Amino acid sequence: MIIAIDGPAASGKGTLGKRLAHHYGYRHLDTGVIYRAVAKSLLDTGADLNDEARAVAAAMELDPEKFGDPVLKTQQVGEAASVVSAFPRVREALVDFQRHFAAGPPGAVLDGRDIGTVICPDADVKIFVIADPKVRARRRTLEAKARGEEADEALVLADILARDERDRNRATAPLKAAPDAHLLDNSHLDIEGGVRAAIDIIEAVRAGRQRA
Ligand code: DC
Repeated sequence: MIIAIDGPAASGKGTLGKRLAHHYGYRHLDTGVIYRAVAKSLLDTGADLNDEARAVAAAMELDPEKFGDPVLKTQQVGEAASVVSAFPRVREALVDFQRHFAAGPPGAVLDGRDIGTVICPDADVKIFVIADPKVRARRRTLEAKARGEEADEALVLADILARDERDRNRATAPLKAAPDAHLLDNSHLDIEGGVRAAIDIIEAVRAGRQRA
């Protein structure tokens, strides 16, 4: 089974994806990390983030062993990832890796922006996670502070809104719910509540399929 989780920045889709993968015994891929790794490679060499050719080269040389680097989680890298991920050729270079990951046994959970629309349009279950931007900014600020980083909630909110705007309006694979995705608004849910709501959706889809 392939479970696709999409949604805007800081919606909690990554944590949800990880928890669902654990629940079902599946593998998990946070696809944002891939774009973050491409961005970090450009930042590290001082290359211009708008240099498409450099970004494509970085995407083709990706080393999944480096996906655990905590620097990838920072706001600066996230913002840069939103820029490089708008290049169609960068996205193209990363499609096979993601589809290959999704197809392997015993099943997989992928989270990102375009999993249900572009990467795995035939995913068994698609969930589109949303939350009030102010709630997302509060959560992201608390997480950054817990990691010992400085974080100003108003700036985090501005970053989230700018990123939503860019991710939604880019020409290639914009952030949007697939027509057959199930919406999950977790503005008023904690992590456990979000996980339970997602499992309810998945089980309802499975039960419906068995009846059919
Ligand atoms: O989910 P995230 O914050 O880690 O993602 C960082 C950026 O990467 C996001 O602003 C847009 C881009 N991204 C994307 O374009 N497609 C994906 N499947 C995942 C992330």
